[in-house]
Amino acid sequence: MGVKLGILGLGTVGTGTVQLLQNNGFRHPLLQSIEIYRVGVRSLDKSRAVTLPENVLTTDLEAIVIDPEVDIVVEVMGGLEPARSLILKAIQNGKHVVTANKAAISRFGDEIFSAANQAGVYVMLEAAVGGGIPVIQPLKQSLSVNRIHTITGIVNGTTNYILSRMQTEGSNFSDVLPDAQRLGYAEADPTADVDGLDAADKIAILASLAFGGRIKLEDVYCEGIRQVSKTDIAYAEKLGFVIKLLAIANRITLSSPSLRLAPLTSSLSPISVRVHPTLVPKTHPLASINGVNNAILIEGEPIGQVMLFGPGAGAGATASAVSSDILNLVAALQNSTKAPNPLLQCGHQDYCQIVPMTELVTRFYARFLTKDQPGVIGKLGTCFGDHGVSLESVVQTGFQGELAEIVVVTHDVREGDFRQALTEIHTFAAVDSIPSLLRVL
Ligand code: HSE
Repeated sequence: MGVKLGILGLGTVGTGTVQLLQNNGFRHPLLQSIEIYRVGVRSLDKSRAVTLPENVLTTDLEAIVIDPEVDIVVEVMGGLEPARSLILKAIQNGKHVVTANKAAISRFGDEIFSAANQAGVYVMLEAAVGGGIPVIQPLKQSLSVNRIHTITGIVNGTTNYILSRMQTEGSNFSDVLPDAQRLGYAEADPTADVDGLDAADKIAILASLAFGGRIKLEDVYCEGIRQVSKTDIAYAEKLGFVIKLLAIANRITLSSPSLRLAPLTSSLSPISVRVHPTLVPKTHPLASINGVNNAILIEGEPIGQVMLFGPGAGAGATASAVSSDILNLVAALQNSTKAPNPLLQCGHQDYCQIVPMTELVTRFYARFLTKDQPGVIGKLGTCFGDHGVSLESVVQTGFQGELAEIVVVTHDVREGDFRQALTEIHTFAAVDSIPSLLRVL
């Protein structure tokens, strides 16, 4: 039986996917049964890196998703609309869907998966996170018997490239960004990458799979890398750390009685989901992930630690992920029983309880600029102590003009307590400013 694909979009990922599927001879025998039936594009006049029969290319994307001949719709156009509407229409018309669209899934996953479950079709999204790295299928299938505690990922190649360059060259963010744009890693408008929004979409998807509940994107705490300075990278280096933009989701034990007594919205355990620049110990497996690469460390029981590493973007890598989803669907379509495969479905109904950042227990790095006078370090230490913040190290090695630069690393502390101490420290006459505040893994 031939399986007919309707591909929406022929940009980098669409072109890579068509190339991979057209050149399928030495890969998997199931690929032989795939027909690239329609490819929807914005313009028929553009020159293309792939050759397709004339009747395959069309500008009528709506016609593709309602065409009774199409078995699988492959959405690789990106963006929110019309991608969301086309995915929903494809589902309503009984098509299985493969998508690389993390932004649409993280925002409209609830609507899309509810519609898919109702229609009895699958929505596959291996390419939405980590580019070519298999991470969705491992979480849904290979690791699904584990109780996952933590997912820690470098899931944005652009920011990892910028931070790696800042680290090796001692440069500032604003020095490296134009280079990243020139090389095609960062967009002309780099907001989605450098402000952590792309990573937030991805960790929302990973957390949902790992912790078995839906995630509201607005609950994901998000801080980007614009404020990371070469001064902090240099201090971090001296203290034994590198700075990485991490996307983290982990189970949380609530310390505050008021939160513990609050009625839970679901039976799912509370989790923290966040994106922020983080000091990572040089000995940690994620510390050595440099350049545009991605890596995702999954920790659970009984598996222990599993780290998945590889290219997080690029035509070939992403096409590999898209094609693996297509292959899974071809196998499902050729299964004569047609019984739904729960390992391919998304059956989450409830929302995860996301705890506020004040409840997070983590280490902090803070850099203070203060007057260079007796007793300042003592006052900082006393204030932290009063708020239950225990310090791991305090260093004063440099000056910025007349001001002394004091760097503090804490032990694990409840974020709310640490912030209260900082509010008090801000009022000290000897304290000029607190230019940096970063979490430590
Ligand atoms: N813009 C993303 C990154 C790649 O820099 O990793 C696509 O998800």
